Amino acid sequence: MELRPWRLSDAESLARYANDPDVSANLRDAFPYPYALSDAEAYIRDCAAKEETQLCRAIVIDGAAAGSVGVFPKTDICRRTGELGDWLAKPFWGRGIMTAAVAEICREAFRRFDIVRIEANIFARNIGSRRVVEKNGFTLEGVLRKSVCKRGEILDSCMYSLLREEVGL
Ligand SMILES: CC(C)(COP(=O)(O)OP(=O)(O)OC[C@H]1O[C@@H](n2cnc3c(N)ncnc32)[C@H](O)[C@@H]1OP(=O)(O)O)[C@@H](O)C(=O)NCCC(=O)NCCS
Repeated sequence: MELRPWRLSDAESLARYANDPDVSANLRDAFPYPYALSDAEAYIRDCAAKEETQLCRAIVIDGAAAGSVGVFPKTDICRRTGELGDWLAKPFWGRGIMTAAVAEICREAFRRFDIVRIEANIFARNIGSRRVVEKNGFTLEGVLRKSVCKRGEILDSCMYSLLREEVGL
């Protein structure tokens, strides 16, 4: 597994893996389903345009882009906070890949940006994603009751955070 900037040539692989209802079930609606090639191209162009202000990387497995992981600095009074976002193609779940990808992206984000905190807001039912951040030393700060409306369902979400001094850079 390697993390690298997105390339336009990843669009086909991205669209193929992202077009999966199980991948988008616990993501924001900004992540479309069905996921078209044009969605993939727009995403990659957007990442390239924002390369200076956010850290978004393709997760490359056996040469193919099979997921995404990023830290997205927030604005205004939350500008010293970055938000973690990630997903991985289903064939690769359960191999420790996202745990390693999150470790790498958090360290790089703390090096690159003047942030003091990385937060992850995860649907309470998304046990796999919660385990990934817990294994990376994130602390559960609280449960945001009924904070999410996803595909018609009202859900709780969990706020996790990792502070710069907890990474040991
Ligand atoms: C959540 C996701 C990122 C996890 O990626 P992954 O590479 O499979 O994760 P890892 O293999 O590094 O670790 C997963 C951990 O969760 C555990 N896990 C996964 N699904 C689980 C479940 N349903 N119940 C209990 N534990 C579960 C695994 O056992 C593992 O923990 P362990 O090492 O203690 O055994 C991946 O499933 C995914 O992309 N899902 C769809 C998109 C998504 O939900 N993104 C996150 C949005 S916040």
